Amino acid sequence: MSAPSGPPWWRGYFDDAYFLLHDPLFPEEMSRVEVAAMREMLGLPDGARILDAPSGWGRHTLLFEEAGHHAVGADLSPALLARGKAAAAAGGGRYRAAAADIRALPFRDGAFDAVVNVFTSLGLFLSDDEDVRALREAFRVLRPGGKLLLESMHRDDVVAQYAERDAWVLPDGTQVRARRRFDPVTGISHEVLRWRRGEERGEKRHALRLRTATEIDGLLRRAGFTPIEYYGDWDGSRLERDSPRLVVVAARP
Ligand SMILES: C[S@@+](CC[C@H](N)C(=O)[O-])C[C@H]1O[C@@H](n2cnc3c(N)ncnc32)[C@H](O)[C@@H]1O
Repeated sequence: MSAPSGPPWWRGYFDDAYFLLHDPLFPEEMSRVEVAAMREMLGLPDGARILDAPSGWGRHTLLFEEAGHHAVGADLSPALLARGKAAAAAGGGRYRAAAADIRALPFRDGAFDAVVNVFTSLGLFLSDDEDVRALREAFRVLRPGGKLLLESMHRDDVVAQYAERDAWVLPDGTQVRARRRFDPVTGISHEVLRWRRGEERGEKRHALRLRTATEIDGLLRRAGFTPIEYYGDWDGSRLERDSPRLVVVAARP
């Protein structure tokens, strides 16, 4: 398994096939629990302005809006933005989202009370400098005193129980197999995903930079944030060596 070459892998990865493979793994009830946890951890007042970036198909953006916030998404994937708009329209709502790179957001300085970046969405660029660019954009669009919530896989735990081979079956019968390789020097996890749905077969490759809390803390400080709270899961538990998730709330001073 070698590192993908050419255009960055994330340019074409998040398409309709990605949606069909991932949407069944995120029941709405789970996204509701995550949104409730984010509201609690961020201490959001009613009507707070929230940017969900990247927002994917808006599974959190739409629930923030439903909870009475002014929620906006930003994402680069036309397929996922279209899926979100269709889902919102079917429910009589609206997915307010910009087609934008999280390193160059089309919003004015200080426009938001909170920014959320969840589901290991910072490590896509495979570069500290590019990730700091994205964090600086989040910093710029936050009002002073506003907060960023960042959530990702927790490298210490992932590495301790790294699954080089994995397999699962989706509710529609799609069979999925994953092969992974972790490079401890770069911190990059390379994955090849192969799936089979009836006669249809497909393959996807990604490379994700996994980070420890120590590394995330350093990037946040480089971008100007003051990290204030670390959690080990959505239940607000304390971050430990074997915590399954890494959730950090960081403030723009
Ligand atoms: C792992 S998904 C998470 C999406 C969403 N936060 C969620 O929890 O469902 C990562 C998202 O990042 C988006 N993405 C990748 N590179 C991006 C970039 N440079 N700028 C904006 N969005 C990007 C993808 O289209 C995808 O929707």
